[in-house]
Amino acid sequence: MDPDTSGLTQRLAEAGQSHLLQFWAQLGPKEQRRLIQDLQEMDFQEINGFFKKAMETSSSNSKHEKMDTRMEPVPRDVLGSVTRDRDNLKTWEAAGLDCISQNKVAALLLAGGQGTRLGVPYPKGMYDVRLPSHKTLFQIQAERILKLQQLAEQKNKIQCCIPWYIMTSGRTMESTKDFFSQHNYFGLEKNNVIFFQQGMLPAMDYNGKIILEGKGTLSMAPDGNGGLYRSLGNQGILDDMERRGIQLIHVYCVDNILVKVADPTFMGFCVQKGADCGAKVVEKTNPTEAVGVVCKVDGRYQVVEYSEITLGTAEKRSADGRLMFNAGNVANHFFSFSFLRDVVQKYEPQLEHHIAQKKIPYVDTRGRLITPEKPNGIKMEKFVFDIFQFAKTFVVFEVLREDEFSPLKNADTQNGKDTPTTARHALMSLHHRWVLNAGGHFIDENGRRVPAIPRAEAAGSVTDDGDRNLKDGTDLPIKCEISPLVSYGGEGLERLVNGCEFRPALMIDERGVHELVKNGV
Ligand code: UD1
Repeated sequence: MDPDTSGLTQRLAEAGQSHLLQFWAQLGPKEQRRLIQDLQEMDFQEINGFFKKAMETSSSNSKHEKMDTRMEPVPRDVLGSVTRDRDNLKTWEAAGLDCISQNKVAALLLAGGQGTRLGVPYPKGMYDVRLPSHKTLFQIQAERILKLQQLAEQKNKIQCCIPWYIMTSGRTMESTKDFFSQHNYFGLEKNNVIFFQQGMLPAMDYNGKIILEGKGTLSMAPDGNGGLYRSLGNQGILDDMERRGIQLIHVYCVDNILVKVADPTFMGFCVQKGADCGAKVVEKTNPTEAVGVVCKVDGRYQVVEYSEITLGTAEKRSADGRLMFNAGNVANHFFSFSFLRDVVQKYEPQLEHHIAQKKIPYVDTRGRLITPEKPNGIKMEKFVFDIFQFAKTFVVFEVLREDEFSPLKNADTQNGKDTPTTARHALMSLHHRWVLNAGGHFIDENGRRVPAIPRAEAAGSVTDDGDRNLKDGTDLPIKCEISPLVSYGGEGLERLVNGCEFRPALMIDERGVHELVKNGV
């Protein structure tokens, strides 16, 4: 195939991207075919337009000061809370379970990211944080869905299903699908696990030229988790939802080990408030924590990322001493189907790309691969929450961090944040509390009860992976894991643990209650 005869040369010239063919004559036939195919799929005018708009927005903003002065916190009347609204939680949960029983609820997982910070070559959902069971994030989430279907079935005595839509990208599609197929969809019906693929965009230099990462290869990256909306339309996902009668969608990120997939309480809260869009938040207590905050900007709801505000604004406090912008985004969103359809069909083109300046490896004019030491270009991404501004009734649901939010972002380092170790500890600590709440107790090696509130004195042995089998006054948790197939949110454990004493490590799964006596099991 020849780029001239196919009209590609001319299209590239018109878009100022002719440099992409500069090594054409040096490529083998296979590489040539691949390059032509990649280029033919691209709309250069559109990409140039994205670049121009994104650069204009980012420079015209002199962003930080302006954003800061335009922000207001979430007003109290749109806010629900697991602590302040305790009396309503059961009602919301029941309403959510009813919607699940009526097959109206779907879960939608954003799993197209590249997991660069974690540094593994495979999708993050396949990560094993070294729980006693060695379950991966995907398996934990799948089992929560299974359990929730069961809870809804028990409540309303009808069979139901929660379809699970999984957004991947060019980089993660094949490995994600293979992983699910190898694990038999973790017990879910294959037809109810629906994979789809978000788009990719090229990295560009500051002059708007697409970057070549090889003589015949473009530097491409997923177009951000807001790429969701375009792909929902062009991959037939919206149609699939409509066919199934889905009305409520829980969209969430792959990396939070505590995520309550399709959380009935959150769904029920949003439905009872008549919301078309909602966000779950945890209280942000540390001004420098790397979470976005839900707030209003120019009167419209938005998430302002941690990188977009000054420290001064992040540190502002209200009269009660709490951070003024404390609605920490945990990337758990609620959308009604009709809202999502409007977004896909009407609003998506209005979403602007955010730019991230990056060090992007490139080939120079002599064809040598250069790894730059300073940022040399940008990647463009849309963000999933940028559609909040279009909601007619937007609500926010505040939950407890220790119950619902522990993201896996970084590789393990000493005292690292959001690492496999912190994720594992968060899950075990939650499950420890579930056992205590259900009337169970833990005992130490001498048969003494371990106090629920940790003491300063050390007790217990360190296991192979650095965890402790007993609490020792540090914040290391007792080793305790409860399979999601047994309990979704701490329910149903009394009959298994009430009045019993356990020597950690404790594992409760569908086969029963086991003490894993050997260290490091
Ligand atoms: C995200 C949120 C941030 C929130 C934080 C909580 C966004 C844009 N930011 O930040 O407000 O406080 O989580 O943990 O949502 N993904 C895709 N496709 C992409 C890029 C990412 O599907 O092109 C997915 C990832 O697989 C992941 C999720 O989006 O599941 C979040 O991506 P990540 O880059 O980890 O976002 P953060 O910067 O941590």
